[in-house]
Amino acid sequence: MSFPIERPRRLRLNPGIRSLVRETSLVPSNLILPLFVIHGSGKKEPILSMPDVFRYSVDMLEPVVKDALSGGVRSVMLFGIPETKDEEATQALNPEGPVPKAVRFLKERFPDLVVMTDVCIDEYTSHGHCGFVKGEKIDNDSTLDCLAKMALLHARSGADVVAPSDMMDGRVGAIRTLLDGEGFTDTLILSYAVKYASAFYGPFRDAMMSGPQFGDRSTYQMDPANRVEALREARLDREEGADILMVKPALPYLDILRDLRETVDLPLCAYQVSGEYAALMAAGKNGWLDTERASLESLISIRRAGASMIITYFATRIAHLMAGS
Ligand code: PBG
Repeated sequence: MSFPIERPRRLRLNPGIRSLVRETSLVPSNLILPLFVIHGSGKKEPILSMPDVFRYSVDMLEPVVKDALSGGVRSVMLFGIPETKDEEATQALNPEGPVPKAVRFLKERFPDLVVMTDVCIDEYTSHGHCGFVKGEKIDNDSTLDCLAKMALLHARSGADVVAPSDMMDGRVGAIRTLLDGEGFTDTLILSYAVKYASAFYGPFRDAMMSGPQFGDRSTYQMDPANRVEALREARLDREEGADILMVKPALPYLDILRDLRETVDLPLCAYQVSGEYAALMAAGKNGWLDTERASLESLISIRRAGASMIITYFATRIAHLMAGS
């Protein structure tokens, strides 16, 4: 049976039919809005390489979150920029730091909002690495205690989900053990299980005023050439107690997302990172492509590859676009 009997175009005849046979859905509640939070008050600072994305002081977050919620986005991911940085990431454990404050502020005003927090020390260290430095090396085991305490602080402040993004070995287990020991058995861990050493994080480092002051992240983040290793990272984080696994970046790693979808029985998250956002925005500003259509297509592709949820700087904009508002 083939042409003229088989005519795939019949299933594309009109919008109604196309919507009946559409295989993948994308709704605003799939999206997670990242928020960059700074100390101080009354601040809304633009980020050069990320048009329409800002750093906010805690008191400025309310309208931003209201806007996201009104489009149907239900979750945010908080990143903190401390006032001071040092070798030991002291400010990562400050209950009055931007993230714990933002969590309390948001949970008070929006109890149903899913508040997630990034757990990583790179924004808090003067050297800009995601682990403590010993000599020229990034020391794995001495970092775990700080990460677990940071996660506990966020949980105590009211975070629903803590999301370790450091790529130290064993950190999911260390976080789960401390959370459970302190009675936070219901706090979820969204693990950046499969995080590649990617050039696509460039604009984020601009946004966070972070980034390694020497060397790079390739002794802890994954080699972009590796695929089997992703399965191992995913398995380990699952065994250590992760509730949700993340693949990051998203679009250049759709094959990895698909591999995980076929092998792991946990929900998957993908992070459409700053460089993916910046590229789509820049091309749009030049009139080289339609940013809204291209970002929708990227997000649908990420869902098709296997992600339940997507962290994206387009969250609010796309949510309103989908709602027709
Ligand atoms: C590290 C962290 C990074 C991102 C999220 N968490 C940067 C890095 O690993 O260098 C990148 C997010 C993005 O590019 O949008 N705490």
